[in-house]
Amino acid sequence: MNEFILKVPKVELHLHIEGTLEPEMMWMLGDRNQIQLPYPSVDAIRRAYRFQDLQSFLEVYYAGMSVLQTEQDFYDLTWAYLQKAQQQTIRHVELFFDPQAHTQRGIPFPVVYYGIHQALQEAQKQYGLSSQLILCFLRDRPPASALQTLEQALPYRAGIRAVGLDSAERDYPPSHFRFVFERARREGFLTVAHAGEEGPPSYIWEAIQLLRVSRIDHGVRCIEDPQLLAYLQQTQIPLTVCPLSNVKLRVFDQMADHNLKTLLDLGIAVTINSDDPAYFGGYLGENLEAAQTALHLSQAEIVQLLKNAIEAAFVSAQRRTDLL
Ligand code: ADE
Ligand code: ZN
Repeated sequence: MNEFILKVPKVELHLHIEGTLEPEMMWMLGDRNQIQLPYPSVDAIRRAYRFQDLQSFLEVYYAGMSVLQTEQDFYDLTWAYLQKAQQQTIRHVELFFDPQAHTQRGIPFPVVYYGIHQALQEAQKQYGLSSQLILCFLRDRPPASALQTLEQALPYRAGIRAVGLDSAERDYPPSHFRFVFERARREGFLTVAHAGEEGPPSYIWEAIQLLRVSRIDHGVRCIEDPQLLAYLQQTQIPLTVCPLSNVKLRVFDQMADHNLKTLLDLGIAVTINSDDPAYFGGYLGENLEAAQTALHLSQAEIVQLLKNAIEAAFVSAQRRTDLL
């Protein structure tokens, strides 16, 4: 990796911790927990990581996480990611987790939460790597299930900064979750939402107007709505863009077609992130490098993207200054 990108201090704002499950760890945990995987080898797992769209990815993603059973498993998963983050000079990370994908398999909420939380605390202690946790609701599950999940999370709210919305986007508009997000905001959570990844610009408007989000996750389809572009430029609501993800899930045919430079040139608060790095071929450094190469980004543009992420992070004014 190019030395500047590897060494420059970085902030990651869009990372699903379950999306950091590398084939080797899936295999190891499957063995440890006696879970039968539908793959004969680690190589076969890696070969299955080819996707036509978001839905085809989600099927592999949810099947893979069946190996996550114990608090130790969640700790090991999170710790492996944090070591990777440390190697890539990531100084602050905001991670999503999908509790419903685990509680619906019979794994209690606190098992998931404590495993992740303790690894995050260890990284703060050992590496000075700061973090925030974001609880994502699965939008293809009923809003009542999201509300129940929010209630399960309340005892742990000191360790959870925000709620988000992810999973299959088409036909699951943010408006379905208006009341859940209102409750979350009353309980003191910030809000974010995946919108405009595969779904239309109207979902981005709904996320802003109904869910009152602080950031839009992905948001790349904003390009289709000039009024929305003007609004994003004016308000500087950040977009957490994930270039390798967008190419792997065929939001764009190839990296050279990605619109993030266009959005950056329009003065929109674009950030670069990795989404599900184990599945999409790279962590934050690889995402920055792939975008830089294909879109001919200058070093000044890379610096702007990194500064946008620091500005968009859920951190104190003091920590923001430290990160700059
Ligand atoms: N869950 C994990 N990765 C996701 C993505 N890119 N979009 C929606 N839901 C997800
Ligand atoms: Zn995502």
